[in-house]
Amino acid sequence: MAKAKTTFFCQNCGTQYAKWLGQCNSCHEWNTIVEEVIQKEEKRNWKQTPTTKKTNKALKINEIPFDKEDRISTLNNELNRVLGGGLVKGSMTLLGGEPGIGKSTLLLQIALGIPKRVLYVSGEESQSQIKMRAERLQSKNTNCLILTETNTQNIFRAIEEVQPDVVVIDSIQTLHTEYIEASPGSISQIRETTAEFIKFAKETATPVLLIGHITKDGAIAGPKILEHMVDVVLQFEGDRNHTYRILRANKNRFGSTAELGIYEMQSIGLREVENPSEILISQKEGDLSGTAIAATLEGMRPLMIEVQALVSTAVYGTPQRSATGYDTKRLNMLLAVLEKRAGFRLGAKDVFLNIAGGIKVDDPAIDLAVISAILSSNEDDAIPQDFCFAAEIGLAGEIRPVNRVEQRILEAEKLGFHKIFISKFNKISKSFTSIKIVKVAKVDDIYANLFA
Ligand code: TYD
Ligand code: MG
Repeated sequence: MAKAKTTFFCQNCGTQYAKWLGQCNSCHEWNTIVEEVIQKEEKRNWKQTPTTKKTNKALKINEIPFDKEDRISTLNNELNRVLGGGLVKGSMTLLGGEPGIGKSTLLLQIALGIPKRVLYVSGEESQSQIKMRAERLQSKNTNCLILTETNTQNIFRAIEEVQPDVVVIDSIQTLHTEYIEASPGSISQIRETTAEFIKFAKETATPVLLIGHITKDGAIAGPKILEHMVDVVLQFEGDRNHTYRILRANKNRFGSTAELGIYEMQSIGLREVENPSEILISQKEGDLSGTAIAATLEGMRPLMIEVQALVSTAVYGTPQRSATGYDTKRLNMLLAVLEKRAGFRLGAKDVFLNIAGGIKVDDPAIDLAVISAILSSNEDDAIPQDFCFAAEIGLAGEIRPVNRVEQRILEAEKLGFHKIFISKFNKISKSFTSIKIVKVAKVDDIYANLFA
């Protein structure tokens, strides 16, 4: 028997080595190089029949015929928006996310919703399990075929038989190709099977949706080049204890990466959330101290988000600072600004911060709402429910302008807020009728406006 050919791969970045090393020369990670068995046979096409070699000619840019990307609408507005208008023909889309977040549910729902012939290939669940899930999703599409298979050659055979318009693969880590002997989920298998599907997608103009597992630090498991190879990388995230899920594009060759989709996980599958602001603001009776509403932007979408703070006397020597959904370092910075620039003695207090709804925010415009919530809790004085905030805080205690402030004000006005606090330096050209705009320049001003 011929000796099995092996190569060493860095499990972090995918670099290939001829022998084992302790540290990867490329990404400098330690102990990431693993031996994998590969068998380099002559590689065949995804289709068994060889295609004729076609050479491409270089063209002047204005000679290239222009046709708008051909897109397939998914009938799921949130996904369409994130993709930039629908699935582009011949594109490869990779969907990553933590286990149990709802990746299979989302793609099965899409597969059942598209009015096209869809082949849903699962290497993780049996046909009857998928049937059970489809029953819960209450969908009517009968044009979706389910295949449970992990061998790519068999999948391509089924594809030739079925002639689907869209292919969904759940998940890339379960697939294996006959041309490589490494086990499914290994770097070389992931790389090879993805390459086969890319070739298939490009040659037949069929969009392919791939599910990818992620590692414990949130990256898609497999070599980083996997993300380079595909056209679109989508990330499905959310707190498993909350029902809201956010879909964002980390990479998109056919649209903006600023867009975002919001879903709610229900017993009958994922529901699209059209007006996210309403769900992110918690319903409560009467005014409570320690909450403030921020007018933020997630991508291109304005979102009203509730910030909750709790300031209490520290029980241990070192006060605790903790934040959920917000950067703890930034919270510490804002506390230092309050201490140094405005003279609030928070050094001996525990400060807890929470963004309602289990979402994560990194829009700096939330800063003003954060300090307002902290001051409100510290004073034990509630901020009226129809007030909201949109400004960044600088290290000197100055209140800084934020981008697209008019869009934020418009959203606040639409949702019935009567007062919005923004930076003195934000220029506004439009006039608003039912919302009052209060311009503030320093942290002290906000205190004077709210509590003095
Ligand atoms: P799943 O799509 O299997 O996650 P992934 O493929 O990302 O690992 O989603 C699993 C979770 O979703 C599971 O814990 C149950 C929940 N769920 C619902 O709440 N409602 C539903 O209709 C479905 C299908 C799943
Ligand atoms: Mg799954």
